[in-house]
Amino acid sequence: MERVQVPYDYQLSKTLARLANPGLLLVGTKTSGESNVMTIGWGTVGIVWGKQVFTVLVRPSRYTYEFIEESGAFTVNVPTDEMRAWTAFCGTKSGREVDKFGSHGMTVTPCDGLAAATIDAAPMVYECRVVHHNDVIPAHLAPDIEARSYGGSDYHRLYYGEILAARAAEGY
Ligand SMILES: Cc1cc2nc3c(=O)[nH]c(=O)nc-3n(C[C@H](O)[C@H](O)[C@H](O)COP(=O)(O)O)c2cc1C
Repeated sequence: MERVQVPYDYQLSKTLARLANPGLLLVGTKTSGESNVMTIGWGTVGIVWGKQVFTVLVRPSRYTYEFIEESGAFTVNVPTDEMRAWTAFCGTKSGREVDKFGSHGMTVTPCDGLAAATIDAAPMVYECRVVHHNDVIPAHLAPDIEARSYGGSDYHRLYYGEILAARAAEGY
């Protein structure tokens, strides 16, 4: 999809609404060029260290985790309404078992100057370079959140991605 560069907070309320439902699409790409995609429902967009940052939370059990660990980069892709079913699919199937792109005729395009790729069908994308990560510290977590979200294992890694470019389709 043809897109133009936009400010990082362009249509931010739309991005946050899609984060809540049906989720956004997080893509990691290995140095070999292979990409994987998973749905995310949690994340933040804001300013840290004077940089525009998209922070995503990824459990180590996710296949996508390996991709971001290797490349130090990721993209966040906003789905259209037509992509709802695929977004649900990407949030329930692992790339270890199925090629989530190929099985649904989805394609990606490599980013310029970043070991990452964006989903061609997505009307808005964020291209991010990991500038920091940290892991959820169980002892620092409110007990109700620990019980509801973890139960003792697979604590998220938070990747702070400097937004190098935000791009949107014209008229989006
Ligand atoms: C709506 C929705 C939101 C999700 N949000 C997250 C998230 O923020 N972080 C996470 O680690 N997993 C999240 N998941 C789960 C992953 O998308 C899911 O485990 C996926 O199959 C992982 O794919 P992978 O193994 O190919 O990386 C979410 C799933 C759904 C359906």
